[in-house]
Amino acid sequence: MRILVLALTTLASLAPVYAEPTYSRDVSRIIQAKCQRCHRPNDIAPFALMTFDDASTWAEDISRVVSANIMPPWKPVPGHGEFKDSYGLSAIERQTILDWIAAGAPQGDPADLPDLAPATGQWQLGDPDLIVQMPQSYDVPRKKDDYRCFVLPTGLDADKWVNAVQVVPGNKQIVHHVLLFIDTQGEADKLDGKDGSPGYTCYGGPGFDVQTLSGIAAALDLTGGLGGWVPGTRVQTLPDGVGLLLPRNAKIVMQVHYFPNGHPGPDQTKVGLYYAKTPVERRMRYLPIVNTSFKIQPGEAGKEVTAKFTIPFFFDAHAIQIAPHMHLLGRKIKVELAGAKSTGDMIQIDDWDFNWQGFYTFQEPVALPAGSTVKLSCTFDNTKDNPKNPSDPLKVVGWGEGTEDEMCLAFLGVTLDREKLSLFNVSNRQPLK
Ligand code: HEC
Repeated sequence: MRILVLALTTLASLAPVYAEPTYSRDVSRIIQAKCQRCHRPNDIAPFALMTFDDASTWAEDISRVVSANIMPPWKPVPGHGEFKDSYGLSAIERQTILDWIAAGAPQGDPADLPDLAPATGQWQLGDPDLIVQMPQSYDVPRKKDDYRCFVLPTGLDADKWVNAVQVVPGNKQIVHHVLLFIDTQGEADKLDGKDGSPGYTCYGGPGFDVQTLSGIAAALDLTGGLGGWVPGTRVQTLPDGVGLLLPRNAKIVMQVHYFPNGHPGPDQTKVGLYYAKTPVERRMRYLPIVNTSFKIQPGEAGKEVTAKFTIPFFFDAHAIQIAPHMHLLGRKIKVELAGAKSTGDMIQIDDWDFNWQGFYTFQEPVALPAGSTVKLSCTFDNTKDNPKNPSDPLKVVGWGEGTEDEMCLAFLGVTLDREKLSLFNVSNRQPLK
C-alpha cells in the first residue's frame, strides 16, 4: 500500500501542471501556423480565422472538423514519408484545440498573443524571372466543377532551367487547384478554343497522352510536368544543381479545377517561373508509376490496383517530390520502396480526396538505388456507399481522362545520380521543333 501511494505521489509530481488552453497563449499560435494560410481575407477558405472573435464564432464548426480530421486538409498519414511544409496538426495541437473549445473557448490574456504573421506579397519568392498567364480571361460557367486546360505560350527562344514555380489564381474563391504540364508537340493547340471559349475541357491530365509512358523510356525522357498548385502550399525550390527543363518554344498547359459553387465569374490565372541561379547538373524528371489496365466492377468496394517499377541497373536515382493521383472512386493510395538497400513507405493517404491532391516534397530526397522497386497501391470503392461516385447507375470503370474514369498513378519527381550535365555543357535534350 505504501509503495502504491509513493508511486502515485511520484507520478503526480512528474505530471506537468495542467493549465487550460487559452486562445491568446495556445490556440492562436496553432491557427496561425496551420489554418491561416487558407483562412485569411481574400483567400480560398470561406471565412477568415485571424482573431479571437473569428475563432470563437466558428468554435463549434472547428471542433467538428478538427475531431473528424477534415481540417486542416493535409492528407499524408504521419510516419509514412516526411514532407516539407506539412500543415497537418500534431496529436497535441489537435487536442489543445479541442480542449480549448470544450472549456468554453476562453480568450486568456491578450498580452500572450503572438506577433501577426508577416504579410507576404503576391510572389512568395520575390519577382519571378518569367510570368506566363492565360491569354484572355475565362468566364467560369455556373456549375459545380469545371475542369479546363489553357495553353500558355512562353515566348522563350532558349531552353530554360526552372527551379521554382508559383501559381497565382486570378479568382481565389473559385480556383480550386492547378496542374501544369509541358507540351512540346503542339497537341494542346489543336484542342484550344474548339468550343468557342478559351482553352478546352480536360480532367486530371492535359487532355492528351503524357503519362502512359513507362519503364526506362519514361525514366530517360519524360514529357514534362511542371508541378502544380494546391491551395495553402508554399512554393518549394528545387535543391541546388537540380532544374526542370522548359524547352524553348514549348507551351505550358495549365489545368484549372474551378469550383464556382454558385459564384461564377471571370478568371485569369498566372504562373511565375524562377530560373535556376546555379549551374544545373541534374534534371528533375517526372517518373510515372502507373497501372492503366485495370477494371473496377460495379458494386466493388476495396478493389486494390497495383503497379511497380524497378529502378534499372545504372540508373540509381533520388526522389525529390511525389504526387499520388486518382479520381473520385479512389479511397486510399500508398507508395512503398522495397529492395535490398532501401525499404520504407514513401507516402500513404487513407482518406483520398481528389479535391485535396498535392505535390509533396520530401524533407530529404529519398534514395532509389538501382534494383529497388517502387510499389504503388490504389484502393477504389465503386459502390453507392461512396458519396463521390459520379456514376448512377454504377458501371465498369477503367483508366481514362474523364471524371467518370479512373487513374492509379503516382508521379515521382526524380533526378538520376549519374547525370552530370556540365560534362556536355548543353541541356540533355534537343528541343523539338
Ligand atoms: C489548405 C487550405 C486550408 C487549410 C490549411 C485549412 N482550411 Fe479550413 N477550409 C478550407 C476550405 C477551402 C474550406 C471550404 C470547404 C472545402 O472546400 O472543403 C474550409 C472549411 C473549413 C470549415 C467549415 C467546414 C464546414 O464543414 O462547414 C472549418 C470549421 C475550417 N475550415 C476550419 C479550419 C481549421 C481550424 C484549420 C486549421 C487547423 C483549417 N480549417 C485549415 C481550406 C483550408
